[in-house]
Amino acid sequence: MAQVHTNKSFKSLFSVTLMAAAIGLTACSTSTGSNPDVQARQDTMKNWGDAMGVMGDMAKAPDTFDADVFKEQAAFLAEDAAKPWSHFEDPEAVGNATEAVWSNADGFSAEAENFQKVTAELNAAAQNATSMDDVKPAFGQVGASCKSCHTDFRAKDE
Ligand code: HEC
Repeated sequence: MAQVHTNKSFKSLFSVTLMAAAIGLTACSTSTGSNPDVQARQDTMKNWGDAMGVMGDMAKAPDTFDADVFKEQAAFLAEDAAKPWSHFEDPEAVGNATEAVWSNADGFSAEAENFQKVTAELNAAAQNATSMDDVKPAFGQVGASCKSCHTDFRAKDE
């Protein structure tokens, strides 16, 4: 591959990595059956879990509402919301996804699109929020979106 030695942008290095993963060239890393796609999307989901945790703590104790922190977390989710889905293209990269991700690809895309919509709405609501009440409905929608997708598309391990 002629392009390997040139000083490529991160983006094209990234797509080379993805391509290698897609055609199965990448060896399993140390974690169980891990693959770069699985790793990337799990990392994203973990960050989402952290963001939801920060906002969820405020939902549980509304007097601790901090508008700046909430705004930051909501903006992060909205900006990140499109990120993991390209890492679900390879049906060999199963991870903890259910087979429905590929057999019901339209359903999965619909969940992913809904997630992008509700996180954008939460981010919009957060911009002028002065209390938890201002963001609570939109926050609830985001939580429902995580849950709804996990119901069909994430393997249950508990
Ligand atoms: C469109 C579907 C979808 C949406 C929306 C979604 N997830 Fe996930 N999530 C998945 C799938 C599929 C997996 C399993 C990924 C894997 O193991 O490869 C997963 C895995 C996870 C994991 C486990 C990561 C790991 O290390 O194994 C966490 C945590 C998580 N999601 C949190 C969230 C949170 C929080 C939200 C909402 C803010 C969310 N997810 C929204 C589909 C979704």
